[in-house]
Amino acid sequence: PKLTVVDRSGTERMIEVGDGLTVMEAIRDNGFDELLALCGGCCSCATCHVHVDPAFADKLPAISEDEDDLLESSDHRVETSRLSCQIEFTSDLDGLKVQIAPED
Ligand code: FES
Repeated sequence: PKLTVVDRSGTERMIEVGDGLTVMEAIRDNGFDELLALCGGCCSCATCHVHVDPAFADKLPAISEDEDDLLESSDHRVETSRLSCQIEFTSDLDGLKVQIAPED
């Protein structure tokens, strides 16, 4: 499946994602160094924050309490904010577009 990533300067790039990766891993592995993902995907750092295209909002896995709490501490939370390490990228999400959230 394909994922479109918009970086902080607004540049868009479409990447092809292998099976079983999270959106965070896909972004990181494709050289976007703006996405720090400091905790490596254990839902404890919030540096993998993305804004998801609203068109995909109801296809995403449910948000956990931990994820919700972490997002709440961000100054850049929007309605479709997610931690990208908590989104497993499946073919259902083909064409997903996410924007890397501004730095907190
Ligand atoms: Fe740390 Fe997602 S990588 S919360």
